[in-house]
Parts: sequence; C-alpha cells; structure tokens
Amino acid sequence: MKVGFIGTGSMGSLLIYALIQSGALEPRQIAASNRTPSKVRQLSLRYPGLHESQSNRETVIRSNIIFLCVKPLEFKHVIDDILPVVNSNHIIVSITSPVQLRHLESSLPCKVSKIIPSVTHQVGSGASLCIHGERMTPEDRSVLEGLLSHFSRPYQVDEACTRITSDFSSCGPAFISFFLEQWIESAVKLTGIKRADACALAGEMLLGTGKLLTEGGYTPQELQARVAVPGGITAQALALMKNSLDGVFDSLIHTTHDKYEEDLSKLDEVFRAGEINRQQY
Ligand SMILES: NC(=O)c1ccc[n+]([C@@H]2O[C@H](COP(=O)([O-])OP(=O)(O)OC[C@H]3O[C@@H](n4cnc5c(N)ncnc54)[C@H](OP(=O)(O)O)[C@@H]3O)[C@@H](O)[C@H]2O)c1
Repeated sequence: MKVGFIGTGSMGSLLIYALIQSGALEPRQIAASNRTPSKVRQLSLRYPGLHESQSNRETVIRSNIIFLCVKPLEFKHVIDDILPVVNSNHIIVSITSPVQLRHLESSLPCKVSKIIPSVTHQVGSGASLCIHGERMTPEDRSVLEGLLSHFSRPYQVDEACTRITSDFSSCGPAFISFFLEQWIESAVKLTGIKRADACALAGEMLLGTGKLLTEGGYTPQELQARVAVPGGITAQALALMKNSLDGVFDSLIHTTHDKYEEDLSKLDEVFRAGEINRQQY
C-alpha cells in the first residue's frame, strides 16, 4: 500500500510520524508534498525512504490513499490542482471537519472519507473519527481504519455529529489542558508547589482518569461519586465548580458550532462557485 500526504504542517507531519512510529507503514510507502517544499525535505531527512514529491499531482500518482492535510479554505484549490490525475480507485481522505463529504464527492471521481485525527495520536492514543463516503466499500473502510488502528481507536460517527465529536476528541486536549493550566497556576501562586511537580501530578491523574473512563467502566458521574465522600473536601470543591461553571459548556458548544457553521457557509460558496464554473465550460 502507498499512502500520500498533501500538506505536511502540524497534522500532516503528526500523522506521518504516527504511521511510521507505530509500524503501520515504512517510510518508503509514503509520498508527501507541501506548499513550502522545505517541510517535506525535513521529513525525508528524518525518515529515509519517504518520497519527496515535486507536486501534489505526483503525490496522488504515487499513492492509493491520499490524506489532504490542508486548512479548510485551501481544499478547493488543492482539489482543482490534483483532479486531472485522480482516478476512481483512489481513496482521498479529508482531515478537516467543515469540509463535507458532499463537497468532496461532487468534485472528485474517487472514493472519499473524512477522518478527524487528534494530537493524542502522537503517543499512540485517542479516537480518530471516521466518516466514510458512499463510494467506500466495506474493504476500503476496513483498510483505512486498519491503518488508523495502529496508533488510535477508529470511531465511526455520523457526519451530522462531526462538530460535537471533534470537540471531544480533537479540541478536547486543548480544553482540558486549559483547565489544568489554570488549576496549576493557582496552585503555584497559592501554595508554592513547584510548577513541574504540579504538571507531573496533573498528567498522571489525567492518564489514570482516562483509563478509568475507558477500561475501568466508569461514567464521569460515577467517578465523582466514587471519589467524593458526602460532606468531604472533594464534595465541597465539586459544589463550588458546579456553581462557578454553570452554563460554560453550553457556551463552549455554541462557540465551536458557530465557527463551524461560518466555515461551512464559506466552503459551500467556494464549492458552489466551482460547480457553476464546471457547468459553464
Ligand atoms: N491541530 C489539530 O489538532 C487538528 C486536529 C484535527 C484536524 N485538524 C485539521 O487539520 C487541518 C490542517 O491543520 P494543521 O494544524 O496541520 O495546519 P498547518 O500546520 O497550517 O498545515 C497545513 C499545511 O498545508 C500546506 N498547504 C497549504 N496549501 C497547500 C497546497 N496548495 N499544496 C500543498 N500543501 C499546502 C501548508 O503549507 P505551508 O508550509 O506553505 O504553510 C501547511 O504545511 C486543518 O483543517 C485542521 O482543522 C487539526
């Protein structure tokens, strides 16, 4: 199997790292191209054998599965660029949430899927959200999910739930880290604990909590009940958080969804313009 990457910024290079590090692929099975070529050069030096394509079209020609790892508004430009060399056997995978399967299926003659990865894949962990297009056969789906399963837990979701599921799996590490950062800063300021100690303890705690919620069979509610003795210290602090954070998560979800809708309407415009141009010529 040959896998291509168009865009080797933060997520493209992370996925390449995860695929190689986990043993899913050897570098010689990967071809990559990027707008700024030096980024691919660095990857080919780091992973000898990885093919440094001279163009996005070359990446497509050399690959069976191609991950498009560019930002939402760059998609249409990349699709127009590669279109002449895409055939019906290619599998093209978008890693960005607002680009819809209908955008991809209406502009490409091949099989398409949407995968929302997470920074947690850097340590072989976390869910990779999978939304497959209609042209993906059961074998195609299992090949793609098989690749992802080397460094993540593939999780099929409905496209209508893309944003909220991405909030948890993809934005979640930033949200939880923000929460921990605020907690750690207060701890350093008020108690004198060393920042490094607080960070290490917070990380260990989060790792263990994640395991209890995945392998341990706990729900978040059950976990609180397990730790908080009625009338005890934890229970009192939980009551404080319940009051202070009232409504915060509603606002958080409105914020991510409003931005998603904004990106989606821009993309609808860009892809509709492309459709009209095709009909005119
Ligand atoms: N960050 C996350 O945790 C995360 C998680 C899930 C999904 N995503 C999604 O992943 C996508 C990429 O995010 P990112 O953080 O990786 O962004 P990024 O670091 O800016 O990487 C985007 C890359 O695309 C390249 N590029 C742009 N136009 C191109 C073209 N025409 N041909 C080839 N390469 C091109 C850019 O090249 P230059 O070097 O010239 O800029 C850049 O290296 C976004 O849509 C984001 O929503 C991100």
